[in-house]
Amino acid sequence: MKKKIAVLASGRGSNFKAVIDALQAGKIPASCVALITDNPRAYAIERARDAKIPVKIIDYASFPSRDTYERALLFAMQQTEADLFVLAGYMRILGTIIVRAFPGRMVNIHPALLPSFTGLHAQRQAVNYGVKVSGCTVHFVDESLDGGPIILQHCVSVKETDDEDSLAERILKYEHECLPEAIRLFCEERLEIVGRHVRIR
Ligand code: GRF
Repeated sequence: MKKKIAVLASGRGSNFKAVIDALQAGKIPASCVALITDNPRAYAIERARDAKIPVKIIDYASFPSRDTYERALLFAMQQTEADLFVLAGYMRILGTIIVRAFPGRMVNIHPALLPSFTGLHAQRQAVNYGVKVSGCTVHFVDESLDGGPIILQHCVSVKETDDEDSLAERILKYEHECLPEAIRLFCEERLEIVGRHVRIR
């Protein structure tokens, strides 16, 4: 049966667009039922409207506390009735109440080879560290920072001439392949979490 997915994004939404394209091309047996954003100015909103995907704006700045924001976000997520929540450039750490509400049903795309370079500015961290290889990771979300079970990774060479932006641009190309692929595997019920590991059937 076709799954329902909801995407959470805070910015330009190029990963969101890659997911929309894969859905529209029939590569993923799912429909996208919502874009949820914390940023009323996110370009991802335009992309959702172009694709006729409903948008829910849960603007962090309009809530009196982190707790009330998280409760509103949780409610919005539950209302979508999505099978899978996709964090595609969602720039806020999700609290325990949200992560625990959807065990094994939330994935994130990260622009480094985890467990290296967690958190913000992963590409800058990779360039500054001087690694020769970086890449991207799609993983399940758990209560740790970028630490949930890994679904897919792709390597990207780091050139001596790279800066943060040039590396980010090359990694992004593979993010746009890995994220739809991981969603496809989830929607085809081919992912099984076994402890720290994800088995792909
Ligand atoms: C991507 O590099 C993603 O890995 C990171 O934030 C960036 C979002 O880009 N978490 P976009 O909004 O999908 O274009």
